[in-house]
Order: sequence, then C-alpha cells, then structure tokens
Amino acid sequence: MLKGKNILIGLTGGIAAYKIPQLIRDLKKSGASVKIVMTDAAKEFVTPLTLSTVSGNEVVMGNFPQSDSNVLSAGTWHIDLAQWAHVMLIAPATANTIAKLAHGYADNAVTTLALAMRAPVVVSPSMDVDMWQRTQTQNNITSLRELGYIILPPEEGELASGLVGQGRLPDLPKIQNAVEEILQFAHQDFRGKKILITAGPTREAIDPVRYIGNRSSGKMGFALATAAAHRGAEVKLITGHVQIQTPKNVHRIDVENAQQMYNAVMKHKKGTDAIIMAAAVADFTPINSFSKKVKKEELDNDTLLLKLKKTKDILHSLGEGKKEGVLVGFSLETHNDIHNAMEKLKRKKLDLIILNNPKKKGAAFDSDTNIVTIISKNGKIEKLKKMPKYDVANEILNRVSKLLK
Ligand SMILES: Cc1cc2nc3c(=O)[nH]c(=O)nc-3n(C[C@H](O)[C@H](O)[C@H](O)COP(=O)(O)O)c2cc1C
Repeated sequence: MLKGKNILIGLTGGIAAYKIPQLIRDLKKSGASVKIVMTDAAKEFVTPLTLSTVSGNEVVMGNFPQSDSNVLSAGTWHIDLAQWAHVMLIAPATANTIAKLAHGYADNAVTTLALAMRAPVVVSPSMDVDMWQRTQTQNNITSLRELGYIILPPEEGELASGLVGQGRLPDLPKIQNAVEEILQFAHQDFRGKKILITAGPTREAIDPVRYIGNRSSGKMGFALATAAAHRGAEVKLITGHVQIQTPKNVHRIDVENAQQMYNAVMKHKKGTDAIIMAAAVADFTPINSFSKKVKKEELDNDTLLLKLKKTKDILHSLGEGKKEGVLVGFSLETHNDIHNAMEKLKRKKLDLIILNNPKKKGAAFDSDTNIVTIISKNGKIEKLKKMPKYDVANEILNRVSKLLK
C-alpha cells in the first residue's frame, strides 16, 4: 500500500511525541520512505537521534542551516521537501502549532513546510482535554478544515495528565490507515487538468437590503475544490456568498446572483477538462428589483407582490454547448428522486449527476457529511453511504478521473 510513497512527518512538542518513532517504523515496514521535521519543543520529548535512526534520514530542526545539515544547505529546502512528500502528517499536533497553522505562520520547519505543501497535510492533534475544547482551539480547527487540512480528531480516554476526556492521539494503526486512505486519493491523477467548480447559494435582490436565497452552505463545492487541488488539479472555484475560507491552491471567484454565476461560468469554462456544478443556483429571480428599500408602511393592502422570472439555466447551456470534457451536475430532490435526477441528467446532457436529499439526516445543506447517489449517463446508479463531504468529493472525482481517461 505504501510502497514508493514519501511521507513527511512533522513532530511538535506534545507528550504523545514518544509514540512517533514506532509509527515511523510501521510506515517504513509498509514500504514508505519517511522524513522528519520537528519543532524545538518536540526535541524535549523525543531526540532527533532516535528519529533519524528509525527513519534513516536526516531530521530537519529549523528554518536555517545547521552546521552539519545536507538538507538545509539548499536554500529552497522547504520547497524541495514539500515537493518530495506525497503527504505530510503533523503528529502530534500541539494547540500552539494548530493556532500557527490556522493563521499562516511559517516560523519553524514544521509550519513552513505545512504552508509550502501542495499535497495533503494531515493534522493529528493531541493535548489536554481542556486545551482541546477551548473555543480558540476549536475555531482554529474549523479554519484548518476549511483551508483544506485533514484533521484526525483526537480520541477519548485517559490523558497523560491523569484527566479523562478527548485529547489522546489515536492508536498508531488508525493513523496509518488514515494516511493510507489519503494517499489513495492523493495520487495526483488530476495533475495538468483544469477543473471548474461552482459552490454555494445565489442571492437574488428584492431591494438593496433583501434577497431571495437558499440554504446552501457551499461546503460540498469547497470540499470538491479541496480534494481536486489535493489531487493536483488546477482549480477554479466560482462561489456565491459563503462563510468558508478559500482552500489552498484554489483560485476563487466570488459572485452574488444567478446571472453573475452564469457569466462567470461562461467566462472561465474555456479549456477546462471537467466542470462540476455544485452551486445551488436560484431558479427564479425578481423581474424588477426595487432601487430603494421597500417600506412596509407604504404597501398597498399590506401586501408586496413579487413577480419572478426564470434565471438562465447554466447546466443546460453547458450541456448544449459541450464538445469535450466531463460535465457533472447536482440534483437536490425531496421526492421521486432517482427518476427526477435521471431526467435531469438526460435533459442537460450530463456525464454524471449527484443526487442528494436535504430531508435525510446528515445530508445536503450545511452538513459536514452527505449521503449521495451517483448516476452515470450509461444508467449506472451507485448509492453511497453517509460520509464526510471531503470523501464524497473524492468518490465523485474518482469517477470524473475515469471518464477523463
Ligand atoms: C510535559 C509537557 C507536555 C506537553 N504536552 C502537550 C500536548 O500534549 N499537547 C499540546 O498541545 N501541548 C503540550 N505541551 C505544551 C507545548 O509543549 C507548548 O505549547 C509548546 O510551546 C509547543 O510548541 P510547538 O507547537 O512549537 O511544538 C506540553 C508541555 C509540557 C511541558
């Protein structure tokens, strides 16, 4: 499984660092090459000598040359190492390092490399339960997820302090499994491919203050963009108004309404290998929006009548004009779902349609997980189990990758 894979481990100053030499041995036994970077604090918990001995490689301990370092003698060591690694694992990740990563610090070898990495970075936090539960730490973890870092949540159990709670580093086989799973997805099969993804809701103005919107959070589209970037794609992400940070290595274009989404897609579609429309684009927009705020005191019969017209159908236009490349649409259905999705797939000349139902618990709007059915134009119907949106994204990309071949 790990044969030929290059794994970079970043150690930070947590008590669980003593477990990492064994993890290095396990990863090497499974065929991986392992290189190590560590913070100054990590050296208090495990020695560089132990790590270089078990990994068989020089350990990088700072941003600047050490007297006997071969690695650091190249000024661009951080780029070289980041390009060497198929995945970086930060374990244990301290609250301190997590805070730095969330804010883009590059003040030591671990944070500098994490920032330079294009391939996925897996973060395995381990700390005292109160440190883990603290709002700042949780906000930083949310930021990291949004930025495209993969978080392995710590487990419940007895902690080094004697307290019991969430904060333990997961058992080593679990960490290894997670790394293997990520590597399965991160085989850079999209290198050289251009992918256009849309995400989030649109807002159709009623007046300068109010709009017609929908419940889309943008999480599915952003997960797709993150996963595609991890797999080496050049990603453009056209998004409506969302509260999510832009993932690493993703070019983001912000729009507000359906017409702007249409214009942006038409502008950026040229030369793309695949287009994935995960945005929840409004079907209707007010024929006229008011130029001044509508005052309720001025309404006739206490009633405001809004006349709506259909918006331009982006997927339909893409399907009609399509000569090459892969086109993927989403279908949100509350009833008759498979039938409706298949009709949409045919009508809009899609290659794949991803069906989800907002009424299912753990699916669609604002959820971190999704339950989807993937329908192909050859009629194949695949019902997937509930999984994190990042994993759903990779399942979709696996199928896009096959179609591109
Ligand atoms: C004995 C001891 C154990 C520690 N264990 C942890 C830990 O498990 N997790 C954590 O986040 N911080 C832990 N700390 C605090 C970190 O070492 C400290 O925040 C340090 O600045 C982290 O630096 P680094 O993130 O650059 O490695 C511990 C400190 C001591 C003295």
